[in-house]
Amino acid sequence: MSPGQSPIVDAYRRRTPTSARLYERARGVFPSGVTHDGRYLEPYPIYVNRAAGSRKWDVDGNEYVDYAGGHGALLLGHNYPRVVQAVEQQLALGTHYGACHELEIQWGELVQKLVPSAASVRFTSSGTEATLLALRLARAFRGRSKILRFAGHFHGWHDHMAFGVGSHFDGTPTPGVLAEVAANVVLAPPGDIEAAAEILARDDHIAAVIIEPTGASWGQVPVRKEFVQALADLTRKRGALLIFDEVISGFRCAPGGAQAVYGITPDMTTLAKILAGGLPGGAVVGRRDVMDLLDHRRAAEAGREKISHHGTYNANPLSAAAGIATLEIVAAGDACRHANDYAARLREALNRVLVDEKVPWIVYGTFSGFHIFTNPDGRKITAADIESGQVDYRVFKTPPRPSLATKLRLGMLGHGVEIFSWLGGPTSAVHDEDDLARTVEAFSRTLRLLREEGEI
Ligand SMILES: Cc1ncc(COP(=O)(O)O)c(C=O)c1O
Repeated sequence: MSPGQSPIVDAYRRRTPTSARLYERARGVFPSGVTHDGRYLEPYPIYVNRAAGSRKWDVDGNEYVDYAGGHGALLLGHNYPRVVQAVEQQLALGTHYGACHELEIQWGELVQKLVPSAASVRFTSSGTEATLLALRLARAFRGRSKILRFAGHFHGWHDHMAFGVGSHFDGTPTPGVLAEVAANVVLAPPGDIEAAAEILARDDHIAAVIIEPTGASWGQVPVRKEFVQALADLTRKRGALLIFDEVISGFRCAPGGAQAVYGITPDMTTLAKILAGGLPGGAVVGRRDVMDLLDHRRAAEAGREKISHHGTYNANPLSAAAGIATLEIVAAGDACRHANDYAARLREALNRVLVDEKVPWIVYGTFSGFHIFTNPDGRKITAADIESGQVDYRVFKTPPRPSLATKLRLGMLGHGVEIFSWLGGPTSAVHDEDDLARTVEAFSRTLRLLREEGEI
């Protein structure tokens, strides 16, 4: 988008000249100038050099209400004092012992206490590593080769998970992914229990079913609890393991994650983000008999070959310190409750703006997430229809018009609010009334600008 084409873009450029200069440098280093696809923005992203609580500041000194939330890792917002103190204390004691340490035990015990399925815990460095390990464990445990996944659900970026998320819904591999890998992943339409039942009945090679239990991409395509319950019954009947990917929902929906809210305990769960309090970290947790495949002694006793698992940063002391401080606060319950309540009020307030401005979009979401659906076909649906899982996933997985999505993000940034790339975001325990008021004001002003530019 070149200067002069759009007042929204021009205003953004005027506010962010230092970010523009940094982006020029970044383009010489990184593909597209970014280090994560979700951070890509035309004409360039903001560069941030400070954050506190629910806010962050860019290199030109502009302040933003933050709905990127450390990609969902920061339930307690930025620099929560107890978390900072724990990390500082540990920093002085060492960042990597290359050895066992007591903090990892304390961290694992907290996970066991909070997450119903966590009979046994193995830390990894990220959510992607966690889902990779979970699949391997499931295949080895069941002696079956295939995985069933739901179209649109995101489980990280490794080969088994790279297609059928935002494209390739027919199950064909995205470039670089082996056809043999894709052939061992069966994609099912989300929310359709008959389809899942039919696949599991016809294919007895399926070792496990993995699902984001609150629906694809942070509840962008919500699923009903009844579907998840039926899936749990089905997997048990068919001898496939059920894996909840709670990288997002874990410690967010409730201290025990979606599984605690639903009262459904999966065989295995993958965790990351809030788990490590804003530092890198992930985990696979689950049934002892499955996790025992990682146990030197028990695997041998069971006459099974142990599954090897390494990882330089597994349970590193800094992540453990941040994780413990965070989970201790989360355990009390108020943090999740506040983030959920704030999100509900935010969704309601933004929908009121849409009504006032006569814009046929819908803001929806569950727990502490919100999504802005730009409703390109003018569907007569409500947030409640979407939240109860009644609308086909492809409606939400079809990206909005690029110029509209970009200008919405730039317009919000121009009014001091950062929403995440999928047009929404996670809320936190520290978003407050002022954040809410600023977000509402920014949304309403941005809608007016979009209308003036003929985007809506
Ligand atoms: C549900 C889910 N699973 C897995 C991942 C991958 O986690 P990570 O980015 O830590 O590799 C993500 C990341 O957003 C996620 O949302």
